[in-house]
Amino acid sequence: MSVAVGVQIGGVAKTMAAKVFRVGRSSTGLGLFAVRPIAKKQYIATYSGRWITNAEAARRENRGSKYMFEVNSRWTIDGSSRRNLGRYVNHSCRPNSEAVLRKGKMIFVALRGIAPDEEITFDYGKEYFDLFIRPIGCRCAACTRKAALKRARRRKATARPGPARDAPGEANRHRTRCRRGPSFPGWRRRGGRPAAG
Ligand SMILES: C[S@@+](CC[C@H](N)C(=O)[O-])C[C@H]1O[C@@H](n2cnc3c(N)ncnc32)[C@H](O)[C@@H]1O
Ligand SMILES: [Zn+2]
Repeated sequence: MSVAVGVQIGGVAKTMAAKVFRVGRSSTGLGLFAVRPIAKKQYIATYSGRWITNAEAARRENRGSKYMFEVNSRWTIDGSSRRNLGRYVNHSCRPNSEAVLRKGKMIFVALRGIAPDEEITFDYGKEYFDLFIRPIGCRCAACTRKAALKRARRRKATARPGPARDAPGEANRHRTRCRRGPSFPGWRRRGGRPAAG
């Protein structure tokens, strides 16, 4: 259900779907961002690449590849190619897209309406999260908000009556202690693993 655009190629009229995203900078490297409103269930992008066995995917993952997309108990898509723009979809614990297998292709579709400039995200599942995201700390919007809230609560809990204005040494010590907030421990999954990913 993407926007259909009529184009004339070599005198033959063809219908081509206009891209609904752009590749841009996100807090986690590159990411995909909506360039127009995307409706719930609308097609966003394809996760393309060679289909390889899960055993081969495990070998490639052990060599450091982050772009293995498990389709089922047998097959995985190796999305390492830069032509696969689907590989730039970042993880979120509160995603706005899901991956579905349609006509032999793994595609991302919107889970809800997505506004222009919103980042397109997907929940890569527990295994991926534990292997690649947890060690570096999840920087999705939900976890970032949660971490900020936790820091604010901790600041409030440790807040004491302010030092006298004529005691700058005291004030500095207090500020330093507050700024050193807890390091965010990462996000813990509550649900089960999605069908693919
Ligand atoms: C499928 S790639 C996504 C595209 C990637 N940002 C890039 O620039 O190539 C997944 C990798 O991006 C980073 N990443 C994605 N989502 C993240 C998140 N929520 N928090 C931290 N890092 C994330 C991790 O390095 C992860 O292994
Ligand atoms: Zn998260």
